[in-house]
Amino acid sequence: MIGIPAHRRVRLAAVLGAAVAGALALASCDGPAQPDEPTALIDPDEWPTFGRTPGEQHYSPLDQIDSGNVGDLQLAWYYDLPSENTATGPIEADGKLFITTGHGYIRAFEAKTGKLLWEFDSKTREASAIHLRLGWGQKGIAYSDGRVFLGTQDGRVIALDADSGEVAWEQRDYPLEELRYINGPPRVFDGKVIVGHGGADVSAIRGFVTAYDAKTGKRLWRFYTVPGNPADGFESKAMELAASTWTGEWWKHGGGGTAWNAFSYDPELGLIYIGVGNGFPYNQALRSPEGGDNLFLASIVAVKAGSGEYVWHYQVCPGDQWDCTAVQDMSLATLEIDGKERKVLMQAPKNGFFYVIDRTTGEFISAEPFAKVTWAEKIDYKTGRPVENPGIRYHGKPGMFELWPGVRGAHSWLPQSYSPKTGLVYIPVIEGASLIGDEGVDFDNQPPIGGMAVNAHPDPDLPGTHRGFLKAWDPVAQKVRWSIELPGNWPGGIMATAGNLVFQGRIDGHLVAYDAKSGKELWSFETQAPVVAPPISYRIDGTQFVTVITGNGAGGGGIFSTGVAEYSTDYRLPRRVLTFALGGKAKLPQAEPALPRQPLDDPDYREDPELTQKGAMVYGMSGCIVCHGFNAVSGGTAPDLRTSPYILDARAFRAAVKEGALLGSGMPPFPEISDDGLVAMRQYLRALSQNLGKKDGHKAPQGPTAAMH
Ligand code: HEC
Repeated sequence: MIGIPAHRRVRLAAVLGAAVAGALALASCDGPAQPDEPTALIDPDEWPTFGRTPGEQHYSPLDQIDSGNVGDLQLAWYYDLPSENTATGPIEADGKLFITTGHGYIRAFEAKTGKLLWEFDSKTREASAIHLRLGWGQKGIAYSDGRVFLGTQDGRVIALDADSGEVAWEQRDYPLEELRYINGPPRVFDGKVIVGHGGADVSAIRGFVTAYDAKTGKRLWRFYTVPGNPADGFESKAMELAASTWTGEWWKHGGGGTAWNAFSYDPELGLIYIGVGNGFPYNQALRSPEGGDNLFLASIVAVKAGSGEYVWHYQVCPGDQWDCTAVQDMSLATLEIDGKERKVLMQAPKNGFFYVIDRTTGEFISAEPFAKVTWAEKIDYKTGRPVENPGIRYHGKPGMFELWPGVRGAHSWLPQSYSPKTGLVYIPVIEGASLIGDEGVDFDNQPPIGGMAVNAHPDPDLPGTHRGFLKAWDPVAQKVRWSIELPGNWPGGIMATAGNLVFQGRIDGHLVAYDAKSGKELWSFETQAPVVAPPISYRIDGTQFVTVITGNGAGGGGIFSTGVAEYSTDYRLPRRVLTFALGGKAKLPQAEPALPRQPLDDPDYREDPELTQKGAMVYGMSGCIVCHGFNAVSGGTAPDLRTSPYILDARAFRAAVKEGALLGSGMPPFPEISDDGLVAMRQYLRALSQNLGKKDGHKAPQGPTAAMH
């Protein structure tokens, strides 16, 4: 046994931001169809951006495939992809399907046949080098007007000609040295490419969102999400307003507030909605010592599309100190509430409440919990503010607070879907907790990278954790209509269609279609690999297609890998683009057997508990955990190091880890790790390898169990 306490508390310095029992009451949802969002001339046959429309409903109005005939849905074509992050939303426009995998490797296909048309390698890995550690691989790309748009981890925004894959323009969003990363899908609204980025879980940065002219690449505006040093003057009135909600010398800590995922757009109102992330550092007592709301952290901010000028905001976690974010997708719709038609924005952020906000004014309409919540008792309907649990502000309190949802959130970036036909929002829900507190944290000695000034244990084994659900939520009644417990704790992105269907992938290797009204499972396909990416649907020459990319993505497979490791999530398993149509004729080749998870043959291995413990710390502190998983249990984001031949060979290990030998395939170099550190880490991994197959092998709770890097 390896002697590191399972509940060891380690400073949280994690990329977490990044970062759903059977059918319940089968309420009928046969009400009148709700009017759609303003669709802004998106062809119903296409799926050109991440959420299909600017209102990000992740809904297809196509109904050729429906709850009556979905049983005849068959594979039309497939395409084999290399081992790399593939949890990305595809897009389709003009008969072409575009996908990004890994770190900005784009492929264009003839959507009907799967014929590869062109490929584009953004060379992000080489450009990022050591910065490749920051992110988790891409989430998606965008199409508009004959161009494909991509944001790269090293900070470039690239427009490609959709016919040829040639670069039309390229811009740098921020200097490479800044510890930011773009991995969210860019959006194209109002002729502008809207780009955010992540990094406020890693470094002391100040978040911003930038708009580029889609035709020329010219930078048009930039909206900062948190105020800078007042002595430098404010960029806008909004920053002055925001600054009045901060105390101390917050700018020295960056402040955070990176907008790494969600944007929506209402063309009628001319408003772009920005989903803003958590504060840096997490602990408000260090960031803004006298408290305050700390705008615009964990907020939805509406800005004018033309100028980026602030219009309104709604904050989901005032004075965030729990890695709370509002970066989850924002579905726009028109709902009838109390007899009145309201233009709403709906979000299920990490904090576990489902919010309905008036998107014209930012007025709070309603919010109720869609998962277990302990941080707040409720949201006060008069003020729109949370009524916090007294234990939640942990600063100066002994021990750890049990936080539900945990820092991972009740909903991550994998999108929800709103069906105007059923009036329901389908949410991939994570049920999990964290323990959080700051007892013993030394504010004066926080590491420059990832110093969050907090102790956190992101995924403790408390009763009821590590679960995932698909929930159908009625946004008017603020109630769950049906709920399905899923395998694992990393529920996939969702698409609803006008055919009364809800499609979602599962970690256990299935793409499933449910009846949108009742939640009854109607169809499922064995994908031979986990599916977490959101499916899309489109129509070409009268045939409706459904496409999804298989493979476990980053996020679920890295830091939170223990919840999915029991499924076949091996990094080396084949992953593919799968496209379905009624009566499709393609067949997948025979599934490869699961790779064995058994101890490596390692006759020279000798137990050395002290060295092993040291290695566990190096592994944790270096951030290997982000991709190779908790306790080196891989969930598919990177190879399982416990079964990797590299750990048997000191020279190969050194070349891979320290010298960047595998950079081209996505393994960042760690030149700062000392030779002693390498020796210790190899001992740790070899010990874990020998432990495989012993009781609770896949859980192996021996490493530092807090997320960190
Ligand atoms: C940002 C993600 C990421 C981080 C962080 C990361 N790795 Fe990797 N690593 C990868 C990927 C992806 C591969 C697979 C590369 C390939 O296919 O050749 C890999 C491969 C490896 C390999 C070769 C394994 C094999 O069987 O092919 C070793 C050894 C390794 N990593 C060790 C480490 C160690 C030790 C750390 C921490 C110091 C670390 N990695 C951090 C992504 C990461």
